Amino acid sequence: MMKKLLYFSLALFLIYVTGNSQEIYYDTVEMTVPDEPFLMAHGPYLQHLGETAVTFVWITNREGIGWIELAPDDGTHFYHKERPKFFAASHGLKSVSSVHTVRIANLEPGTKYRYRAYSQEVTGYSGTRVEYGNTVATNVYRSVPLEFVTNDHTKSDINFLMLSDIHGNDHVMEALLQDIEWGNTDLVFFNGDMYGHLESREQLFDDFMDKAVDIFAGEIPMYYARGNHEARGNYAHNFFDYFPSPTGDLYYMFRQGPVSFLVFDSGEDKPDSDIEYYGIAAFDEYMAQQAEWLNEVIRDDDFLNSKFKVVVIHIPPYHPWHGARRIYDKFVPVLNDAGVDIMLCGHRHRVFYQEPGDGIAFPVLENAHNTLLKARTEGDRLILDIINLDGEIVESVVIEANN
Ligand SMILES: [Fe+2]
Repeated sequence: MMKKLLYFSLALFLIYVTGNSQEIYYDTVEMTVPDEPFLMAHGPYLQHLGETAVTFVWITNREGIGWIELAPDDGTHFYHKERPKFFAASHGLKSVSSVHTVRIANLEPGTKYRYRAYSQEVTGYSGTRVEYGNTVATNVYRSVPLEFVTNDHTKSDINFLMLSDIHGNDHVMEALLQDIEWGNTDLVFFNGDMYGHLESREQLFDDFMDKAVDIFAGEIPMYYARGNHEARGNYAHNFFDYFPSPTGDLYYMFRQGPVSFLVFDSGEDKPDSDIEYYGIAAFDEYMAQQAEWLNEVIRDDDFLNSKFKVVVIHIPPYHPWHGARRIYDKFVPVLNDAGVDIMLCGHRHRVFYQEPGDGIAFPVLENAHNTLLKARTEGDRLILDIINLDGEIVESVVIEANN
C-alpha cells in the first residue's frame, strides 16, 4: 500500500511539474494506481481542422480507449453540464490503442470550441469481458480547457506560419516561434524534413512534436506537408498513424479565409531505385496518384473561389534531381493553369525567392532550416515575410490578388 501511495504521489508531482505554456496538465481521475501509472504521454494536438470538422490525436503510455468531450465557448464552466462524448472508434467498436484519434464533424464554421481529451486503460480481456484500468484526461480545473476555432472561408483576413527542415532541432523551432501572437495566428505548416529519419514514436515526439504541443499544436492547427526525410527510417511507415487525414491521403486541399492551400507530399528526391532507399521506395506511382488528385481538386468550388491560391510542397520544382523534376513534370503544368499565386517550399536549407519563369507561371519562395515564414492577408494583398533567428525580415514578398 505504501509503495502504491509513493508511486501515486510521484506521478502526481511529475504530472504537475510538466505543465507547459498552454498549461496542459494531465489529471489522474481515478485513485487506484497500478505500479506504473497510466498516463497521457504526448498531445493532444489538432489535425486537419476544417470549417466543420477536426481531428484530435494523443498518445498514452499503454493501450486504452479514448474520447473527446466538447463544449461551446459560452462562458459556462466545462462541467456546467454533461458534455457530449466523441469516441475513438472504427466500424462500431471503440479503438483500443495507445494512439488515440478522434474525428469530430458537424461543427459550425468560424466558431470557438473547448475540449477535453480522455483515455481509459484497457488492462485485459476475459472472454467477452473487457477489463479497464485508470482514466486520464487533460485538465479543466486548474487551467482553462483547451480550445480551437474552426476555419471559415468568409473570414476576411488570415495569418499563418510555416516551418521547414527542422531535422529534430526543436530548440530552433522554439526560438523561431518565441514572439508569435498565437491569438492572431490561424494555422501553422510543417513543410517537411521535421526529422532526419524516424526510428520510433519517442523520437517523433522528442524531435519536434512534444515541443509543438507545448507551444501551440493543442489549440492552433498544424498542417503537415511530408518531405523526403519523413519517408526515411524503419518507423517512417507509421507516419500516418500520428498525422491521420480524413481521406487517408497525405496530400489535401483546405480553405481558411481568402486563401486555399494545396498541400502536397513531395516524395523522395532521388529515383526509387537509388541505393540510399534500400529498395523500399515506390514514389513514381504515388506521385502519379497525386497528379490525378490534383486534376480533380482544382475544380473544387472552395479552390476556384478563393482570392489566393497557395501551394505548400517541400521540394521546389526547379531542383535538378529526379524528385524535383517529377514535381515539375507532373504538377507544375496543372498548377500553371490553375491560377496558383505562389508555391512555398523548404528542402534546400536556404531562403530564396524565384520569380516566375522557365515554365513555372508562379513565384516560388523557399524557407530555410533556421527561418520562419510569416504570412498574412490584407485585403487584396498576401504578404509573406521570412524571419531569421534574430527576428529580422530577410525576405519579403507581396502577392496582389488577381481574381
Ligand atoms: Fe528535404
